[in-house]
Amino acid sequence: MINRSTLKTALTAAILLMSLSTVALANEDVFDQPIEPFSTLECARCHEQVFTDLRDFGGAHKMVCRDCHDTFHNFKRGLTLDERLPSCEGCHEQPHGDDEAMLDCLNCHSNAHAPVASLNIDHLEPLCASCHNGPAEQLAQPSSHADMSCNECHHEQHGYLPTCIECHDEPHSIFENSASCMQCHPVHNVSIMLYSDEIPNQPCAGCHSEAFDKLEKGHLAHSELNCTFCHANEHGNVPSCEECHNTPHNPEMLAEFDQCSDCHGSPHDLLPGE
Ligand code: HEC
Ligand code: HEC
Ligand code: HEC
Ligand code: HEC
Ligand code: HEC
Ligand code: HEC
Ligand code: HEC
Ligand code: HEC
Ligand code: HEC
Ligand code: HEC
Ligand code: HEC
Ligand code: HEC
Repeated sequence: MINRSTLKTALTAAILLMSLSTVALANEDVFDQPIEPFSTLECARCHEQVFTDLRDFGGAHKMVCRDCHDTFHNFKRGLTLDERLPSCEGCHEQPHGDDEAMLDCLNCHSNAHAPVASLNIDHLEPLCASCHNGPAEQLAQPSSHADMSCNECHHEQHGYLPTCIECHDEPHSIFENSASCMQCHPVHNVSIMLYSDEIPNQPCAGCHSEAFDKLEKGHLAHSELNCTFCHANEHGNVPSCEECHNTPHNPEMLAEFDQCSDCHGSPHDLLPGE
C-alpha cells in the first residue's frame, strides 16, 4: 500500500537521480566548452547600481562593461585599485585643456557611469566663466543681478535654465514668459534695456497703450515704423523730429509756430497736414 511517506521517499529518490544525471551530463560537456566572458547582464548581477546608473543616466557611456573595463577584480594581482580602473584621459585625453583645475575629471563628472547627469554644480561653480565667458562678463557689469552667483539661478543641475517668474512673480503681468522678458531685459545685465530694432511694438503696448493705439490707428507713414526705430537704443530716449527730417519746411514759416505738433499732432498718429 502506498502511503504519504513512501510517496515522498520515492519522489525524493527520483529527483536525486534526475539531478545526478544532469550533473553527469554537464560534467561531460563543461571542459569541452569555451569560457565565455561575463556578459554585461552577468556583471550587473553583482554591480546592479552601476548597471542602473548606466541604463538611466549613462548617456554616451551606455556601453557594455568590457568596452571600458578590461582589467578588474584581482586577476592581475599586485595592481592598485587605480591601476585596475580605466582612466578618463586614456580615452578622452584633455578635452577642456590642460589647466590644472580641468584635469580632475571626477571632481565635476562625479560618476563615471553617468558622466553628464552627475555633473556636480557646486564643484563647477568657480569654473563657470572658463567655459561661459559671455554671461560672466555681462554679469560683471553693475546691475541688480550682479551680486548673484550663477548657481542661484542655474540651480539643481548643470544646464538648468530658470524662468524669470521663478523670482519675479510677473512684475508686468502682460508678459508671459522669460523669452518675452528678455526682449527688453538681457538677463545677465538687467541694468541696460536691450533696445534692438527687433523688439516688436506689442511688448511696449503693455505699459504705453495710448501711444500704441494711436500708432496702430494712424494711417500715415509713421504707422509702418517700430517704436524702437524712433525710440532707439535706450528706454526713454525721445528723438526730435529734426533728427530724421532736418528742416522740412521753409524756416520762416516754422519760426511762426512753437512746434511741429501744432500742425502734425502727435508723432504717433500724425494728423494729416492741413
Ligand atoms: C564608458 C566606460 C565605462 C563603462 C561602459 C563602464 N564603466 Fe565602470 N568605470 C569606468 C571608469 C572610468 C571607472 C573609474 C571611476 C573612478 O576612478 O572612480 C569605473 C569604475 C567602476 C567600478 C568601481 C567604482 C564604482 O563605481 O563602484 C565598478 C565596480 C565598475 N566600474 C563596474 C562597471 C560595470 C559592472 C559596468 C557595466 C555594467 C561598467 N562598469 C561599465 C568606466 C566605465
Ligand atoms: C559575483 C559577483 C561579481 C560579478 C559577476 C562581477 N563582479 Fe566586479 N566586483 C565584485 C566584487 C565583490 C568587487 C569588489 C567590490 C569592492 O571592493 O567593493 C568587484 C569589483 C569590481 C571592480 C572594481 C575594481 C576592482 O578590480 O576591484 C570593477 C571595475 C568590476 N568589479 C567590474 C566588473 C565587471 C566589468 C564585471 C563583468 C564583466 C564584474 N565586475 C562582474 C563582484 C562581481
Ligand atoms: C574606454 C573609453 C572611455 C573611458 C575610459 C571614458 N570614456 Fe567617456 N566616452 C567614451 C566614448 C566612446 C564616448 C562617446 C563618444 C564621445 O563623446 O567621445 C564618451 C563620452 C563621454 C562624455 C559625453 C557623454 C554624453 O552623454 O554626451 C563625457 C562627459 C565623458 N565621456 C566623460 C568621461 C569621464 C569623466 C571619464 C572618466 C571617469 C570617461 N569619460 C571615461 C569613452 C570613454
Ligand atoms: C570643472 C568641471 C569639469 C572638469 C574638471 C572636467 N569636466 Fe568634462 N565637462 C564639464 C562640463 C560642464 C561639460 C559639458 C557637459 C554638457 O555638455 O552638458 C563637460 C563635457 C565633457 C565631455 C563631452 C563634451 C566634450 O567636450 O567632448 C567630455 C568627453 C568630458 N567632459 C570629459 C572630461 C575629462 C576626460 C575630464 C578630465 C580630464 C573632464 N571632462 C574634466 C565639466 C568638467
Ligand atoms: C568645462 C566647460 C563647462 C563648465 C565648467 C561649465 N559649463 Fe555650462 N555648458 C558647457 C557645455 C559644453 C554646454 C552645452 C552647450 C550647448 O548645449 O550649447 C553647457 C551648457 C550650459 C547651460 C545651458 C545652455 C543652453 O543654452 O541650454 C547653462 C545654463 C550652463 N551651461 C551654465 C553653467 C554654469 C552656471 C556653470 C558653472 C556652475 C557651468 N555652466 C560650467 C560647458 C561648461
Ligand atoms: C538672475 C539669474 C541668473 C544669473 C545670476 C545667471 N544666469 Fe545665466 N541665465 C539666466 C536665464 C533666465 C537664462 C536664459 C533662460 C532662457 O533662455 O530661457 C540664462 C542663460 C544662460 C546661458 C545660456 C544662454 C547664453 O546666454 O549663453 C548660459 C550659458 C548661462 N546662463 C550661464 C550663466 C553663468 C556662467 C552665470 C554666472 C556667471 C549665469 N548664467 C548667471 C539666469 C541667470
Ligand atoms: C533666482 C532669482 C532671479 C531670477 C531667476 C531672475 N531674477 Fe531678476 N532679480 C532678482 C533679484 C534678487 C533682483 C534684485 C532685487 C529686486 O529688484 O527684486 C532682481 C532684479 C531684477 C531687475 C531690476 C533691475 C534694476 O536695475 O532695478 C530686473 C529688470 C530683473 N531682475 C529682470 C529679470 C529677468 C528679465 C529675469 C529672467 C530673464 C530675471 N530677472 C530672473 C532675482 C532673480
Ligand atoms: C517691452 C519691454 C519690457 C518687457 C518685455 C519686460 N519689461 Fe520689465 N521693465 C521694462 C521697463 C521699461 C521697466 C522700467 C519701468 C519703470 O521705470 O518703472 C521695467 C522694470 C522691470 C523690473 C524692475 C521694476 C519692477 O517692476 O519691479 C523688473 C523686476 C522687471 N521689469 C522684470 C520683468 C520681467 C520678469 C519681465 C517678463 C515677465 C519683464 N520685465 C518684461 C520693460 C520691459
Ligand atoms: C514695464 C512698463 C514699461 C514698458 C514695458 C515700457 N515702458 Fe516706456 N516707460 C515706462 C515708464 C514707467 C516710463 C516713465 C519713466 C520715467 O519717466 O523715467 C517710461 C518712459 C518711456 C519714454 C519716455 C517718455 C518721456 O516722456 O520721457 C519712452 C519714449 C518710452 N517709455 C518708450 C518705450 C518703448 C518704445 C517701449 C517698448 C520697447 C517701452 N517704453 C516699454 C514703462 C514702460
Ligand atoms: C516716428 C517715430 C516714432 C515712433 C514710431 C514712435 N514714437 Fe513715441 N515718440 C516719438 C516722438 C518724436 C516723441 C516726442 C513727442 C513730443 O515730444 O511731443 C514720442 C513720444 C513718446 C512717449 C512720451 C510721450 C507720450 O506721447 O506718451 C512715449 C511713451 C512714446 N513715445 C512711446 C512710443 C511707443 C510705445 C511707440 C510704439 C507703439 C512709439 N512711441 C512709436 C516718436 C515716435
Ligand atoms: C527716427 C526717425 C523719425 C523721427 C524722429 C520722426 N520721423 Fe517722421 N518720418 C520718418 C520716416 C522714416 C517717415 C516715412 C518716410 C519719409 O517720409 O521720410 C516719416 C514720415 C513723416 C511724415 C510724412 C507722413 C506721410 O505719410 O506722408 C510726417 C508728416 C512726419 N514724418 C512728421 C514727423 C514729425 C512731426 C516728427 C516729430 C514729432 C517726426 N516725423 C519724427 C521718420 C521719423
Ligand atoms: C504750419 C503747419 C506745419 C508745421 C508747423 C509743420 N508742418 Fe510739416 N507739413 C505741413 C503740411 C501742410 C505738409 C504738407 C502735407 C502734404 O504735402 O500732404 C507738411 C509735410 C511734412 C512732411 C512730409 C514732407 C514730404 O515731403 O512728404 C514732413 C516730414 C514734415 N511736414 C515734417 C515737419 C516737421 C519735422 C515739422 C517741425 C519742424 C513740421 N513738419 C512743421 C504743415 C506743417
